[in-house]
Amino acid sequence: MTLDVQGTTMARLGVLGSGKGSNFVALAHACNAGKIPASIAIVISDVPDAGILDRARALGIPACYLPPGPFRTKLDEQSEEAYVAALRDAGVDYVVLAGFMRVLKGRFLRAYPNRVVNIHPSLLPAFRGLEAWKQALDYGVKVTGVTVHFVDEGVDTGPIIAQAAVMVEDDDTAASLHQRIQQVEHELYPAAVAALVRGELQIEGRKVRRLTRAGW
Ligand code: GRF
Repeated sequence: MTLDVQGTTMARLGVLGSGKGSNFVALAHACNAGKIPASIAIVISDVPDAGILDRARALGIPACYLPPGPFRTKLDEQSEEAYVAALRDAGVDYVVLAGFMRVLKGRFLRAYPNRVVNIHPSLLPAFRGLEAWKQALDYGVKVTGVTVHFVDEGVDTGPIIAQAAVMVEDDDTAASLHQRIQQVEHELYPAAVAALVRGELQIEGRKVRRLTRAGW
């Protein structure tokens, strides 16, 4: 934690991403606007030329590529240690996944218990995994949406913090549906991360209780 100019406690966020980083930008703007009482201390990617790294550097936020190791869908043990070490060196209190395309395992999660969150582009538990908006479209559902959840060792299985619905239109393409889902993500994720760092969330088994009555 650090203090801002008024002496208010500010959490330090570490953001992990593999892609273009639009959710990271939404989080960074929300931090700068004071909507999240936090700052983004570091951005780490497993993809050397990921857009998220450029966008972080453009905003003056430390950003680095850390090699993920030999596996395609997870970090190997050595890489998990390197990621945790980088986050700890940056003084990170909470880890926010923003399009990070690898599953995190025990070593990482034990370093940040109940302090790792993810955003997924569907109403979980429907359509876990890759290209969830396309899965929803192909299945023919009329409503899909966005889920923010705590991260456990499964794929998109952790306790749910917040969800928002997005209607599927008859003439939607995968691209048009994904675009509307992302617009909702950019509102919901900052709101959920703000509640997290304010200590407003209580986990009871699979259920996450919000200790304030405010809406998302
Ligand atoms: C988002 O759609 C998020 O739900 C998923 O990965 C995507 C990341 O997009 N986990 P961006 O890199 O934040 O633009």
